[in-house]
Amino acid sequence: MKCRICKREARVALKSHNTAFCETCFLDFFGRQVSRGIESQGLLTHDDRVLVALSGGKDSLGLILELARQGYQVTGLHLDLGIPKSSQLAREAVEAFCAQEHLPLLVRELAREGLAIPRVKAALRRPICSACGIIKRYYLNKVAIDEGFTVLATGHNLDDEVARLFSNTLRWDTCYLGKQSPLLAQEGGFVRKVKPLWRLTEYETAAYAFLRNINIHYAPCPYSAGASFSVLKGLMQRLERHMPGRKIDFYQGFLKRGRPAFANDARQELLHPCSQCGYPTSAESLCQVCRIREQVAEYGEKAAL
Ligand code: AMP
Ligand code: FES
Ligand code: ZN
Repeated sequence: MKCRICKREARVALKSHNTAFCETCFLDFFGRQVSRGIESQGLLTHDDRVLVALSGGKDSLGLILELARQGYQVTGLHLDLGIPKSSQLAREAVEAFCAQEHLPLLVRELAREGLAIPRVKAALRRPICSACGIIKRYYLNKVAIDEGFTVLATGHNLDDEVARLFSNTLRWDTCYLGKQSPLLAQEGGFVRKVKPLWRLTEYETAAYAFLRNINIHYAPCPYSAGASFSVLKGLMQRLERHMPGRKIDFYQGFLKRGRPAFANDARQELLHPCSQCGYPTSAESLCQVCRIREQVAEYGEKAAL
């Protein structure tokens, strides 16, 4: 197969775009998709101080590299979750990558906050993934605000967004359907949040990381086996195989026509500062993270008896 642009040997075939590219033309295509995604949704400007959340996976490492190449002012932030083996490998991948690319990096350890994920898992009686998500969102936002960043970027790709949209649709969760977007505007104590890879599939971000020789952290989280999103992603993959291009059409159609239709359902939550830590919350007194912290402390006291 030949590259559509320069007619050299193609290395990446993209069925959804009914095309194939050589290495150079694919990397150009990837960069164009990122800038189109940013400009069409007004995600970033070159004046922004961008904090990029780095998990150590292909998406977030590819994202910070591409944003830096496009001249954005980027700093990485890695949250060390304190999960034996897995967190250490993820952190090493992020630190080695940022050192190699001369990218500034902040690292925060949840263990220092008394919230290492294995400890939280032992203390809570509900699935750890949702609590872990709450804790990660809290610290990503907190560090962005405390350190004066204007925007927080995450590595969510088209497959992540489509799986979330599919999940919201299956539940007809009209409040989330009214809000879901690659851009969450700054509000109260929440920094603006953006997903610049929203036009790119998981296959495309993996090809980008491979062609740019990025050493990523592969291992999935040991606690996330059977997560419902992987079932939804599998379904969307099958659909895409039979109907190439359907994923991006579905998501773009949602942004143009679906989301506005649910705009009135997107409740504006009444926020006030958490009585313990000052973080914005819609809960009566303590925010979700302070409540988790209390449960962890209670568990620790019981275990000590
Ligand atoms: P996930 O929910 O694991 O698919 O991650 C989605 C995005 O959240 C990643 O692309 C990162 O931008 C961010 N993220 C996930 N885990 C971490 C972490 N431990 N530290 C910093 N950012 C993270
Ligand atoms: Fe949070 Fe696995 S990454 S529970
Ligand atoms: Zn709090």
